[in-house]
Amino acid sequence: MTVENRKPVNIAELHRMRADAEPIACLTCYDASFALIEDRAGIDLVLIGDSLGMVLQGHATTTAVTVDDIAYHSRCVAPHLQRAFLVADLPFLSYATLERALDASQRLMQQGGAKMVKLEGGREQAAIVEYLAVRGVPVCAHLGLRPQFIHKMGTFKVQGRDEADAEVMLQDARILAEAGADLLLVECVPAALGARLAAASPVPVIGIGAGPDVHGQILVLHDLLNISPMVTLGRRPRFAKHYMDDGRDIEGAIRAYVEEVKQRVYPAPEHCF
Ligand code: KIV
Repeated sequence: MTVENRKPVNIAELHRMRADAEPIACLTCYDASFALIEDRAGIDLVLIGDSLGMVLQGHATTTAVTVDDIAYHSRCVAPHLQRAFLVADLPFLSYATLERALDASQRLMQQGGAKMVKLEGGREQAAIVEYLAVRGVPVCAHLGLRPQFIHKMGTFKVQGRDEADAEVMLQDARILAEAGADLLLVECVPAALGARLAAASPVPVIGIGAGPDVHGQILVLHDLLNISPMVTLGRRPRFAKHYMDDGRDIEGAIRAYVEEVKQRVYPAPEHCF
């Protein structure tokens, strides 16, 4: 990567990448060491994901994660990113009311150094997205599989398989963008629905298990490195390709992921639904 394209990524740059059909390479991150490596390796967007509840804290779900946890890991990461755009998850119930959402976002942006917050949900979150957006808080809305809803759903499974559900998700995406969401993240949907969401969305769509035809890809760092508890327990998600083969070191693995996203090699059909 040359000096001129080491400029910090911002929302305008994410839109530019979408317009130029340049896939956006995204990865979760939780500490300073990996922040430096991910940034150097060319990751465009870094997420302080509430997946940290599973891969760092060892819980079975993300629901134990607090705003304090996300703020702490954001503070560990933010100072070490020169270029990558930093997004922080609003954890379970931290956006249950407008006031709580604003308070949590304020902490993640002012103390954590995040430039955008992410929340899970469809049209039912539109009022919160708008409340944050008009106050200058950039929002990424997370559609499809929403891990914070695990105790309502009972199981993690592919979403939007039938046409009625797909139609609802397409409408949700439009409503959330109209409410002011600057980015959408779509998790575990059929590749064909990922493509429809990306084509219809006015804002970039980042996928995880959403097929190749979205505007960017994201993985959980520990899945990429093949060290997540899920992998160790033999429950690797279909989309979770690991890059620690071919004798690569950690930075080499992350660079290989960036390259495969940019060249549209990842995700391959075996990573899609
Ligand atoms: O918490 C997380 O890591 C996420 C994934 C979908 C990337 O939200």
